[in-house]
Amino acid sequence: MPEKPLSLADELEIFVREQASQFGEVISYVPAKRNQPITTASVTETTKEVLAPVSSTLRIAELEEKLAPYNSEAWRQATSLDVMKEIIHDCTKCALGATRTKLVFGTGSAKAKVMVIGEAPGADEDAAGEPFIGRAGQLLTKMLEAVNFSRDEVFITNILKSRPPNNRDPKPEEVAACEPYLWKQIELIQPKFIICFGRVAGMNLLKLETATLAKMRGNVYDLHGISVMVTYHPAALLRNPDWKKGAWEDLQKFRQLYDAAV
Ligand code: URA
Repeated sequence: MPEKPLSLADELEIFVREQASQFGEVISYVPAKRNQPITTASVTETTKEVLAPVSSTLRIAELEEKLAPYNSEAWRQATSLDVMKEIIHDCTKCALGATRTKLVFGTGSAKAKVMVIGEAPGADEDAAGEPFIGRAGQLLTKMLEAVNFSRDEVFITNILKSRPPNNRDPKPEEVAACEPYLWKQIELIQPKFIICFGRVAGMNLLKLETATLAKMRGNVYDLHGISVMVTYHPAALLRNPDWKKGAWEDLQKFRQLYDAAV
């Protein structure tokens, strides 16, 4: 009889078990570096070997400065995520407003300490109006759960709130039109940590135009007082299961950073 294919959940459970035994001892957190500031510039890197947990305070003035050009727009003045979502749900600031089905605002806790940022909605997300619910989204849920974060306690969103046709990469003008919404969401939620899934998310959030994922992975970046890490996009892991080992390593580091600071 042909073997029954493994479900995603089984696959990840096996992956977590294997990686946990492989990486449990290897990732060494160095207590002496606790609370060492990593904020000498607006974006700084720690080494790959040492995580430097930050006692971060959101530098709200920096966000306000980025958002200042939009002060006269209604969404900028929103005092809650719900109000903001209601105001922008029919946004047509870029051409994607004409081709999307639903704007995908984001879901999760309005008081999340962790924001999860992806690239842009896919077909499933576009139809439902919710982020990361397709096959890659199911893997993302498992990845978060593997390091004890539930979808409900984090806030999940994307760089773009509308689906690019055929899931092509976001265009610079689409990012430029949409990213102020992300900054506003960050201002409302005030997270202490952000984890970006994929090169496109990391590069656009951190404005590291030439960065490869290999260069970003393992580093802790400071963004307005928020500690940011970047790892593989779950869709990339579905295509390249060998990369799961590295993703597991990144997630463990992210969890250590979180545990050391909260
Ligand atoms: N990929 C993303 O980057 N975001 C989603 O919401 C879904 C798939």
